[in-house]
Amino acid sequence: MTQLIDQFGRSIDYVRVSVTDRCDLRCSYCMPKQFHDFHEPEEWLSFDELERVIAAFTRLGTRRVRLTGGEPLVRKDLPRLASQLSALPGLEDLSLSTNCTRMNKHAEELKLAGIDRINVSLDSLDADKFKQLTGGKLEKVLNGLMAAKDAGLSPIKVNMVVMKDINDNEVEAMVDFCIEHGFTLRFIETMPVGDMGRKATDQFIDLKVIKQRLEKSFDLVPGVMPGGGPARYMNVVDTNINIGFITPLSQHFCETCNRVRISVDGTIYTCLGQNHNFELRPLLRAGISDAELEQAIRTAVNLKPEKHEFNEHPEKVLRFMSYTGG
Ligand code: GTP
Ligand code: 5AD
Ligand code: SF4
Repeated sequence: MTQLIDQFGRSIDYVRVSVTDRCDLRCSYCMPKQFHDFHEPEEWLSFDELERVIAAFTRLGTRRVRLTGGEPLVRKDLPRLASQLSALPGLEDLSLSTNCTRMNKHAEELKLAGIDRINVSLDSLDADKFKQLTGGKLEKVLNGLMAAKDAGLSPIKVNMVVMKDINDNEVEAMVDFCIEHGFTLRFIETMPVGDMGRKATDQFIDLKVIKQRLEKSFDLVPGVMPGGGPARYMNVVDTNINIGFITPLSQHFCETCNRVRISVDGTIYTCLGQNHNFELRPLLRAGISDAELEQAIRTAVNLKPEKHEFNEHPEKVLRFMSYTGG
């Protein structure tokens, strides 16, 4: 079987595609409130270009694709892209990372288009705090989550970036909420990606502390969840839910990293925490052959660095998180 193996022996079989850098929320750790400097749509890869690139990745062994943003549902006709990608031979797992503001309208369509599962950002269950943190309406997100559940998208994973003195008082409530609805919950440490991410590191909490605190209220044993990401899971005994801990800073997971990212303008970013990248768009638009495209992808994967340096060099990554999607 064909595989993409990087310089450090890691098999790269997961591609995260940012389909837009736009978003209808402004999470404090991601995008500034007044942010308008979006890339121009002419630079965006079309759905056919994206399909061609992902088809090349699948021929090289990619099994999982995640659509991200910004907010992917801000991109017009996203379900059409999902249909194009889910039809590709070799692709086993097509998922979406979303803030769920628009899910109410799109859940069924997405399911029919071949999206298997979604991961949803939700940092607070308090409507005022949610508004303060994201500028958006909690109710829309909760409606979206329920619509996704009704449409049969499964599993649904809730992502909570835990921030000291902002939402750390809500971790138990979030566990209860996820037990009630059968959602998987993942806690995430804030990362210094872009200016907003760097500012948010003042609110950094080591998730070990959160885990120890939760062990006082919940019986946790090691658990497993399908998925290809870096979360380490604990099962909440006597419930059907798992809690994942995503700890890029306190316990990094780079040695098992299996992914690269594609930005909306067709650049491959080989690590969330570094700037190493390879521009595919000029080659695609100059008419390269499929064989040349595969070779370009191999070259890009060879650029993948060993690890991030969030602790040693938090100043490194200037791009906003919304550009490459979490
Ligand atoms: P599955 O396990 O397949 O469901 O996916 P996932 O957990 O990778 O997807 P999601 O988009 O929900 O990502 C959750 C969070 O994990 C992201 O917001 C990041 O905070 C973190 N993360 C994902 N990939 C990486 C990575 O390559 N490096 C680092 N440092 N963090 C990552
Ligand atoms: N640090 C950690 N996680 C972040 N996300 C966005 N910005 C940051 C950051 N600076 C998360 C979102 C979402 C996921 C895709 O990325 O909360 O759940
Ligand atoms: Fe938007 Fe997601 Fe960034 Fe929040 S984390 S501003 S929902 S792209």
